[in-house]
Order: sequence, then C-alpha cells, then structure tokens
Amino acid sequence: MSTSPYLLDAYAPIYTEHTEFELPVTGSVPAELDGLFTYIGPNPVVPPVGYRERHYAWFRQDGHVAGVRLRGGGAEWFRNRWIRSRRVCREMAEPRPPGPRHFLSDVVHTNVVCHGDLLLALVETGCLPARLTPTLETVEYTDLRHGLRHGVSAHPKIDPRTGRLVMIAHTPLLTWGEYVEVDGNGVVQRRDRVDFGGRPLVHDVAFTENHALFFDSPVRFRPSVAIRGQLPYRWDHEHQPRLGVLSRRNATLRWFPIDPGFVLHTVTATEREERITLRAIRYERMFDHSDDPLAGGGGCLWEWEIDLAAGRISERQLDDRMNELPRSHPRTTTTGCRYYYAVTGSPEDIADRQPTGVMKHDLTTGRTLVRDYGSGAVPTEALFVPRGDAEDDGWLLHLIYDTDHDTSRLMVLDATDPTGDAVATVTLPCRIPSGFHSSWIDGRDLDTVDTALRTRPNSRER
Ligand SMILES: [Fe+2]
Repeated sequence: MSTSPYLLDAYAPIYTEHTEFELPVTGSVPAELDGLFTYIGPNPVVPPVGYRERHYAWFRQDGHVAGVRLRGGGAEWFRNRWIRSRRVCREMAEPRPPGPRHFLSDVVHTNVVCHGDLLLALVETGCLPARLTPTLETVEYTDLRHGLRHGVSAHPKIDPRTGRLVMIAHTPLLTWGEYVEVDGNGVVQRRDRVDFGGRPLVHDVAFTENHALFFDSPVRFRPSVAIRGQLPYRWDHEHQPRLGVLSRRNATLRWFPIDPGFVLHTVTATEREERITLRAIRYERMFDHSDDPLAGGGGCLWEWEIDLAAGRISERQLDDRMNELPRSHPRTTTTGCRYYYAVTGSPEDIADRQPTGVMKHDLTTGRTLVRDYGSGAVPTEALFVPRGDAEDDGWLLHLIYDTDHDTSRLMVLDATDPTGDAVATVTLPCRIPSGFHSSWIDGRDLDTVDTALRTRPNSRER
C-alpha cells in the first residue's frame, strides 16, 4: 500500500495547537504592516489510522487555520487552531459551537474573509461559514441572520465600489445557486436565483461592475463518487462547457459555449460597453481519472473575450507558464488588474504538487518576474497587501515550507520586485502543512471584529 502524497512532505499534517509571542524576525517588518496574516487548509485533528490512513482524502480533513499577527514593526504572535467542527470538538472533548450548518459535514477549511465586523472561515461544500475571533477561536456557525440558505462559494469578493461582499452561494447537491450581496452590517441585501442546469464545480467567480462570470465546466458533482468517500467530482465528456455571464443588475443569465477545459481560479475581468474580457488559470483536464485534482498537470493563463451585443465568445492562451492561486490588488476586484501574483514551478514540480516559486505577471507587457526558491522550499499562495497608490505598491506575503529542516517561515517581499532581497522573514514555531488560501485582515478591521464579539456574541441577535 502506498502512502497518500498528502501525508508526506509539505502536506504532512501537524497535530498540536501552538501559541507563541514575539517571533524571531530576520530583516525588518514594516511598521505599516499592521494586521493578521492567515493560512487555512485541511489538516486532521488526530493522526489517521487504519482505513482513514489507507484511504486518506485530503479534501475531507478538518479545517485548520494558522495566523501571524504583525504589529509595531514585529511579529507579535503566532497561533494555529482547528475550526471547531463537530468532529474536532468530539476529538478535543469540547462543546460544539452554536449556530446552523445546513449540511451534513461542518468541516470548514477553504478560505477566510473579513467583512464588516465578521471574521468568517468558508467552505464550498454547502456548509455555512464559521465565525472566528481575531485570535482564531471558533465562536459559532452563522447564516447571517437567516440571510444565507446555502454555504458560500470559496471566493466571495468585496466590491470596492459598494463595499458589499458579493458571491455565488450554492451547494453541490443542487442544480441552482444564488447571487448574494451582503452589506457592511452582515445583512443579505440581495439574493437572486441562478440556475446552473446541473452540478458544476463553481469554486471561483469573477466580478465586473455589472456582471458575475463563472464556468460551467465538465468537472461536475457525482453523488456515486461521494458515496465511495472520494472527492465527488468527475470529468463529464458528454457535457458542453459554458461560460455564464450573470447581470448583477437584473440577474439575467446568459451562457456562452466554450472548449473543454477547467478553471479553478479567475485572475481578473474587465468590461467596456458590451465587451467583457476575462482572464483565468485554465487546465486542459482535471478529475479525469482520479479524485486528486492536483495530480498530473498544471494550469496556464487564458483569456476569454465576450461580445454581449453579438452573442459571441472567443478564447486563447496568453502564456504557457504554469501557475496557480492568482492574487491581485483588492481595489481592482471589479475593474480589472494589471498585475497579478501566483505560485509557479516547472511542469514536473507542479505535477508533484510542489511549486518552487512565486511570480508577478504584468498583463500589459506580458513580463513575468519569478522568485524561484529551488528544490527544498515550497511556497504557499502569495498575498498582496497594498501600501501606496500604485497598483503594485505593496508587499507580498506567503509561507515557505523548508523541506530540509521541516520548518515554516513567513516571507514579506516587496511586491514591486519580488525577486529582490526579502523585506522580512518570520520564523514560525511549527511547520504549516500546505493548504489552500491566505488572507490579510487589517488591524482596524480586527478591532471592529473584536468589539462586535464583546457586544454581540451571537450573530443571530444582532
Ligand atoms: Fe480557491
């Protein structure tokens, strides 16, 4: 029997919660970096044995979030905590947090978002979000005062124009979802039904000022696979892939046929009059023979041009460098970015689930800067934190797993040139297993979250 690759190397789980203060720093943490860096992913709360080890399913493991609080020119503390699902509470002999789940599994492990006075951990299985404290303790599960009927998708986004959190909320069990807008008080202000006509995997949605864009790809939910305990998605050769263009004004949905392929993450979208340009990381195949979506291939930058007036769509590959986990300046979310940042590596490294570098790509010039850490170091998603006015004036934050020393560190890079000397390196007290997504929560937002928790601990009574 071969051991799952998700129990080895950068993915090997850890089984202890740590709390450490005043972390060692090489270089200098900029004083302006006042906030919390988080990294979330699946990590079993107890070592898998027997059947659970032989059939280890990484995507089904318990939610685990690590955080580094940067403040006052230093790294004030580190904490790693499991999201208190029913299974985690049972193993840790703790009471379950209150609140609705709306799904059989209440494991939450995919993303963290701060909106208004809520710090939420998210998953796209259909389970509702878990509400966290600024020190990463689980308070409750929440449906935003009965506003959410489904779990949210993995990547809701804050519209910089309205300040609202926008998303396609859905559960893979249904053939429809909802376009949802949440205001800064955590109240759902819009909820429009969106019919998918099937059960596609909708992980990420791109937004322009007037439209939401998502793929109805051949990767589709298959209940018979779920019953076998595997990740329940498979490539459907019979399905005609489509790109969905949803009007944010009147919830009208138009479908445009596209070539077979799969998109996990979008990069950016722009619109001008009746023309929309979408850029995303596209894979030729995924979930074709295996339930491991990361096995055997990588994605590259592609572009889709949609002419709404003529009802036409075209698509083309823009670059052949394999990359994933694209991030950009948050103010460009609905207007389009020039620069994006991602993890990258050789096709062999990517196929082996071990990126070796982080990159900055200029969509205007096509130029790419790569910071290659080489073998022995595995970077995680590179997160952009703004500093000044220019779109690339800021820092890149990401973790590095050092395979030789079995340690992790937080890197702070200058986003204008990530290939230069590191601004700061923070040594963490434990290794952090490779997971999914990073987030940055500004210090002022943490104060808002903290105040709300002290005055309104139950989100249903707010
Ligand atoms: Fe994602």
